[in-house]
Amino acid sequence: MTAPTDVPIAPDARLHVATHGSAAEPGATGRAGAKAILLGEHAVVYGRPAIAIPVNALGVEAHAQPAEGRGHLASTLFHGPIARAPERLHVTLTAVRAALAAAGRPGAALDISIDSSIPAERGLGSSAAVSAAVIEAVLGACGFAADDETMHELIQTAERAAHGAPSGLDARTVRARAAVWFDQGRIEPVSVGRDLVFVIADTGVRGRTREAVAAVAQRRESDPRAVEAALDELGALATDLRSDVSTGDREAIGSAMSRAHVLLTGLGVGDPALDHLVQAATAGGALGAKLTGGGRGGCVLGLARDAASAAELGDRLTRAGAAAVWTTTVEGAA
Ligand code: MEV
Repeated sequence: MTAPTDVPIAPDARLHVATHGSAAEPGATGRAGAKAILLGEHAVVYGRPAIAIPVNALGVEAHAQPAEGRGHLASTLFHGPIARAPERLHVTLTAVRAALAAAGRPGAALDISIDSSIPAERGLGSSAAVSAAVIEAVLGACGFAADDETMHELIQTAERAAHGAPSGLDARTVRARAAVWFDQGRIEPVSVGRDLVFVIADTGVRGRTREAVAAVAQRRESDPRAVEAALDELGALATDLRSDVSTGDREAIGSAMSRAHVLLTGLGVGDPALDHLVQAATAGGALGAKLTGGGRGGCVLGLARDAASAAELGDRLTRAGAAAVWTTTVEGAA
């Protein structure tokens, strides 16, 4: 292994030598944020477009530095030698290995710490965000930084370990700090006409993205016409939503969200706990509400009329049994 003071030579044309950091402070930090899918989850796996928003209140920071001996991992899920990390950390370990391989240091021993406020398995992009932060930190500790495409490919390597055939939506959006339009693997910024205030409520039930994605695939095999019709409608809703977001038509956005919840439930990725919070959000004045992310648990995303009603909506969802509630605002031109 190259000593930390050696000048690194990028092993991969798409990596470049990092310019940050100093010999006095060995190691590097990586960061990523949570995301919520406004519309298009699952349909995006079948080539339809989606819109996602950042959840600014939640994020992850990872730090990596050359280890004295064997590498250690410090996270809320595990503290100890990386070699003894449990199976449930296999996505994170895949991210570490992918970054080390890209840096040309497959056997390097690093101490890695992960500090995340994103609840795991709640549809808020925790796995992709942790992978993104860890990959950035590991590459940085080896003296490199990656361009956007290389980062994306590395995060996708870890996401494939999470659930087989990820669309790339999560990998792209956990590094984007604004609302994005995702189509055919690429993102573009979405123009936002007016501030949109969202409330996110956690059912407390672990989302099961891998199972949910597999369930949609199975249903598509057994009932292709119905599933394709639902996917087409979700795609059309996302396309219309993009212009509703750009004009700031909150009523239209809310109604598209509520329709998406019905379609997603019909695809088999709903859950009674999600329906309960969607109903509570609607009764509490949300303009629309839906599950967000893989479903079968996880979170509900509701659109509030404005910031004041978002606070009331949050209280209402807490009283309805939400395990946690967050508010996130997507800032518009007006
Ligand atoms: C998970 O956050 C989003 C899904 O559409 C899966 C994917 O896009 O890979 C359910």
